Order: sequence, then C-alpha cells, then structure tokens
Amino acid sequence: MKVPLTELKGKKALITGGLGFIGSNIAQQLVALGARVTIYDACLDPYGWNDANIAEIAGEVEVIRGDVRDYEKLAPLVKQQEIIFHMAAQVGREISMSDPQLDTDINCTGTLNLCRAIEKNNRDVKVIYAGSRGQIGEPIYLPVDEDHPTLPTDIYGINKLAAEKYLLLYGKVYGFDAVSLRLNNVYGPRCQMRHCFYGILNWFIRNAMENKPITVYGDGLQTRDYIHVDDVVRAFLAAAVNPAANGNIYMIGTGVETKFLDMVEQVLKAVGQGSYIHVPFPPERESIDIRKFVVTCRRMIKDTGWQPQVDLADGVEQTVQFYRRRHKEYLTPIAR
Ligand SMILES: NC(=O)c1ccc[n+]([C@@H]2O[C@H](COP(=O)([O-])OP(=O)(O)OC[C@H]3O[C@@H](n4cnc5c(N)ncnc54)[C@H](O)[C@@H]3O)[C@@H](O)[C@H]2O)c1
Repeated sequence: MKVPLTELKGKKALITGGLGFIGSNIAQQLVALGARVTIYDACLDPYGWNDANIAEIAGEVEVIRGDVRDYEKLAPLVKQQEIIFHMAAQVGREISMSDPQLDTDINCTGTLNLCRAIEKNNRDVKVIYAGSRGQIGEPIYLPVDEDHPTLPTDIYGINKLAAEKYLLLYGKVYGFDAVSLRLNNVYGPRCQMRHCFYGILNWFIRNAMENKPITVYGDGLQTRDYIHVDDVVRAFLAAAVNPAANGNIYMIGTGVETKFLDMVEQVLKAVGQGSYIHVPFPPERESIDIRKFVVTCRRMIKDTGWQPQVDLADGVEQTVQFYRRRHKEYLTPIAR
C-alpha cells in the first residue's frame, strides 16, 4: 500500500449496512487496526445482516439500528466521523425489478440523505461508497475499466449509478472527499446463505454442504470476476487512507475471468461432495443476465498500491472452512 493502513488507528469510522456481509468484514479489520467503529444498520430482510457477523468484536463497536431512509436519525451520526463506509443498500437485482420503488428509496434517497447530512453536519469526512459492476451492464469490451460506458440492465444498476453520481457531485460541490469502488462478485466469510437472491457462490457452498444439487442456469459458460471479501476490505481501507483516490471511481475485482461452471467445480472440490444440474434460465433472470464480465484494476493499483491477493481456489477453501465452523449461525432464522 502507498499509505499504510496503520493510519486508521484511532480514526472514527461509521459503516452504514455494517451488520451485513462486506460491512461487517470491514468492521472486523477496522477494529483490528485500532479504529473506533459505529455501525448503522436497519436489519432489513432479506438482506445479509446478522449479529453473528460481528460476534468477535461485539463489545468493541457501537451498533445503532437505523435506516438510511430516516434522515433525522442518520444526520446527527455523521458529526465527528472521519470516514464513512456507505454499504447499506437494497442489493437484490431481481428485487429491484419487482419493487423498483423500494430500490430507489434505499439506494437513491438513502444515499442522498447521507450526502445532505454530510453537507450540513461534517464536510471534513471522507466517504467510500460500495458501487457495483451492475452499473456497467453487458460489457462492450473486456476487461472493463473505469472508462467503460454504463448501460445497466436492471433498476439496481441504474440506482447504484445514480447514487454514485450523487455522492461524487456532493463531494465536489460541498468540498468533501468521496470515492466509489465498483465491486465485482464478492464471496467469502459472513455472506448470507439463507437464499439465492444474491451471493450465489456462498449459496452454492451451502447447497454442496447439505448435499443438495447446485442449479446452473443455462450452459454455465457465462463468466464473472469473483473476488474474496478480504481483498475487497483491503480495497476499502486503501481507498480510505490514500488521498490519491479522492473523487475517483475504481473497478474492483481480481482481473481473472472465471466461467460459472469452473466456479461451481471449485465449490464442489472445496466442500468434497455435492453435484450440479443444468436448468433453463428463469425468464426474469435471463432478461437481466450478463454474459461475460471481467475487470482491470490497473487504476486502483496505480493510485493506492492495493493488489488482489486471494485466488479463487484458496478463497473458496477458506470460506468453506468458515461455514463448517459456523454453519448454524448462518442458517437459523433471525428474530429481533
Ligand atoms: N456482495 C456483492 O457481491 C456486491 C457486489 C457489488 C456491490 N455490492 C454492494 O456492497 C454493499 C454491501 O453489500 P453486501 O453484499 O454486504 O450485502 P448485505 O445484504 O450482506 O448487507 C447489506 C446491509 O445493509 C443493510 N441495509 C439494507 N437496507 C438498509 C437501509 N435502508 N438502511 C440501513 N441499512 C440497510 C442490511 O440490513 C444489511 O445488513 C451494497 O451497497 C451492495 O450494493 C455488493
């Protein structure tokens, strides 16, 4: 890294959506680095919030149950923060098509609320936004870089793009630092495995562990850039400490294009059992599916010194080990 992550020691950080998959992994690392962490999460279903995600650091982080749609509750929290990781989102692509208003309320209005709160209460803060490859749509060239046109194939992609633009605009106009990391398919420990709306690799791990056949839509030859959450967390932290990232957008992946079927094979190998079957694409999924996707992370590497480090075989193996130890915490229905 160009700037060491030890810079985060003692820093005050707010994580919206911090009880979810990526946010909680960021929280774990921030606490290890000596940062002071507040989590703001609405605990909405069917999203990936889970108290088990922060079990190891429960006494060391402040958790506030609140919704990014609730400006009055969110606004005061922004005061005195030094870094905000904005992870809270409606994350289901198909949900965004069946309930576009919900997606717009959470992803657009929620992000605008955060922008307005920063404008009013704390322009010294730096915000790192969780963008998505979904903002790109079907690539017209590979590997996808930051200059690639944005042609989302679903409401989620459109709203994630709009939210990114709100944040960068507010940062520019009102003088605070903002960065967007457009994430590829993230997998790893602490991802929900209750359903298959998103986080498909983790869902397949569950299927294999329970010896249920994995369903592969179509020929399974579509490609993705799967990235382990540890690499994603380091990207967020690198973006936070490196001033060179300010005001920028970055594609975050591994640069390795993997066929869907090869990912399934890795899962079966790591779990040591299981099988898969081909089924026709459900029409609602096929209409928004992307055929091929892989990114180049040259810009992020150049500006921050960050590098993806976990290869798919090792990452899947490590993820399987995590769920072997903590299977129950990720399957039991949650009540609050
Ligand atoms: N996981 C991926 O592969 C991936 C890929 C691209 C982008 N992203 C982005 O990364 C971010 C985190 O995703 P994740 O995979 O950790 O999902 P997740 O479902 O595990 O976590 C999302 C968290 O946000 C919370 N949340 C949802 N709506 C909220 C609201 N209105 N107010 C406050 N909290 C709310 C949920 O309760 C949950 O804890 C999202 O912004 C998502 O769009 C994820």
